[in-house]
Amino acid sequence: MSLTDDPESSSTTEARVAAVMARRRRGDDARRASGRADWSSWPEYEAADKGLRDYWYPVEWSSEVGRHPVGVRVCGEDLVLQRDEQGTVYALHDRCPHRGVPLSLGKEEFPGTVTCPYHAWTFDLASGELVAVITDGPDSPMCGKANVTTYPTAEAVGLVWVFVGDREPHPLSDQLPEELVDPPAYAVGGRIQDRSGDWRLYAENGFDEGHAKYLHRTSYWRIFKTMPTWNKVHIERHGRWIYRIEDERHWEADFPGLGRWSNDRWWKIKPKQQQGKMLGNTGGSKKNDSYIAGQGLPGFASLSLPGVLRIAYPQFIHYEFYVPIESGRTKYVGVMVQFKTGFQRAAFFLKYLGGIRWLFHGNFSSQDHWMVEHTDAPPERLYRPDISLIEWRRLVEEGNPFDPASADHAESTEDGR
Ligand code: FES
Ligand SMILES: [Fe+2]
Repeated sequence: MSLTDDPESSSTTEARVAAVMARRRRGDDARRASGRADWSSWPEYEAADKGLRDYWYPVEWSSEVGRHPVGVRVCGEDLVLQRDEQGTVYALHDRCPHRGVPLSLGKEEFPGTVTCPYHAWTFDLASGELVAVITDGPDSPMCGKANVTTYPTAEAVGLVWVFVGDREPHPLSDQLPEELVDPPAYAVGGRIQDRSGDWRLYAENGFDEGHAKYLHRTSYWRIFKTMPTWNKVHIERHGRWIYRIEDERHWEADFPGLGRWSNDRWWKIKPKQQQGKMLGNTGGSKKNDSYIAGQGLPGFASLSLPGVLRIAYPQFIHYEFYVPIESGRTKYVGVMVQFKTGFQRAAFFLKYLGGIRWLFHGNFSSQDHWMVEHTDAPPERLYRPDISLIEWRRLVEEGNPFDPASADHAESTEDGR
């Protein structure tokens, strides 16, 4: 006898189907009541799929930009980077006005210029002016009658930065994390990677309290360190930064009717509870770096506009810059800074290249990449730890804190961090 012939079984099936439909109806009601179909509560944020304008963005390692043109895309705009003889770096719109060929495919024929590979229109790096047309002779009437847009550039933390916007740029030092403006000698290790996924989802992921304990529990970076099972946090605003502050940490938990869950294993080490409040929540370092500790950061994880994450560990600070390439693509710029010189600096490089680059900027960070490219929000139903996301979106809605025309500008710089 088949199952469908069994009267008892078919009534059981009917009951199950009825229960599923009832749950679905209840679920639909709940979604209507509290779910978000879109981000219209944060209109600035919702509109910023290509990034926020009028900010400096790091786009390439300084060491990767020389006399040969390099093409990059940021906030949906194509740029060509190139240095002149003196080593000054310039950024121009990466499009020849003649027939639209990218200048980044060209080369430097004369010092301080870039020449298009097609008909050899030649542009001055500093002004963007057409200064020669090689295929039209020295008396070409086109000279001085065409130009390409130039972008303000700067260099800091081993990176080339460009200002993407429509107004006079604020100084890059206003926007850099304060401890990097006039720091003692430091070493930088990092990774730049173009990734699929919206820059806003990367920023939210970076500051998200909820996922790290679960998603990253399997990362090699955390193989010998216990991750908490859950914790409670609140967000504090200090100047232009929002900080995630831990209020409670739970290493294990009993889930009613389901059982106990913990990430604790015999080979894993738990950090000292008190250390976790300030510098890194899972580190085991005995000593804190005096420069980092001296910053008096209110929390180890902080986020600022236009998408700069700062995680302060006892011996180094990790930064993530989420640079919008275009809608749905992000340049991940992960940088570790250690404020050391001499032998300690060399030791840091060895440690970075030997382990951190692969363990942290590779394996650990690729878990974030994996999740962000699979995130399909909005719609969304947020939960208690998502207070971090809400506060970040609020920060974006407040507008650009570096805009001299903004009333908040003076206030936020006065308050410092
Ligand atoms: S397209 Fe650039 S010179 Fe013709
Ligand atoms: Fe993560």
